Amino acid sequence: MILIDGKKTADEIKKEIAAEVKLIISSGKRAPHLAAVLVGHDGGSETYVAFKIKDCEEVGFRSTLVRFENDVTEAELLAKVEELNNDKDLDGFIVQLPLPKHISEQKIIEAIDARKDVDGFHPENVGRLVLGMPAFLSATPFGIVELLKRYKIPTSGKNCVIVGRSNIVGRPLSILMSQKSVNATVTVAHSQTKNLDKVCAEADILIAALGSPEFIKANMVKEGAVVIDVGTTRVNAPETKSGFRLKGDVKFDEVAPKCSYITPVPGGVGPMTRVSLLLNTLKAAKKNS
Ligand code: GUN
Repeated sequence: MILIDGKKTADEIKKEIAAEVKLIISSGKRAPHLAAVLVGHDGGSETYVAFKIKDCEEVGFRSTLVRFENDVTEAELLAKVEELNNDKDLDGFIVQLPLPKHISEQKIIEAIDARKDVDGFHPENVGRLVLGMPAFLSATPFGIVELLKRYKIPTSGKNCVIVGRSNIVGRPLSILMSQKSVNATVTVAHSQTKNLDKVCAEADILIAALGSPEFIKANMVKEGAVVIDVGTTRVNAPETKSGFRLKGDVKFDEVAPKCSYITPVPGGVGPMTRVSLLLNTLKAAKKNS
């Protein structure tokens, strides 16, 4: 069994990005610039956005954090999106989800200029992805495919089962995994899938992205399978400094011995998601220069 080290791979990619940033700056251009919009004080969102800002610093990007309180109106948020769309000193931005219930996430996503949508959530980018056209790819699917490539894990003709059909992970990942550069045969399983255990046990590559801690057990995994765990559920852990622990969707201890490759949580997919946002921002910056 080989443990896939997402942190190490992401660190390698960050070094590549930092080298490109140096070249951009030495050619007289400004550094790539990412903004993050954060509404409210959700613990998870605060942490994710703080990581995104820290990542920018590490590779030499400029970053801007835009904060709103929970009672911000949809109109105010839309006005900020419009301002960021028109900011010539900004290459890309994200609006951290989830948003408070009184704000339509879809409306906000659709208001973002697709050329600055480094999350890859805008319908134009999703449509371009489906058609195999150049697009900003949603960060987690992008990161997973890059991880498989960098570990030289064979995918062509392999049976790939994705558990979960979210707009952010499962669905775009199913499109990427079936594209000609990857060539997997893809099944998207979900809450209504019959005989889920059996479907999963047929997978050469099993990707768990349903957000249910330790859902995937050993009996659902074929001997020698590649298992990618996208889950990052916070569970209470009073013994830790933060008071919580991240749990994946895979029961790691019993599944790992059966795998040819497996990603841990934390340190697997998460760092690759973060670095994919940097790659998208670099791409946006290159287009703008
Ligand atoms: N919330 C959880 N994941 C993400 C992400 O990748 N981007 C944004 N904007 N919000 C999220």
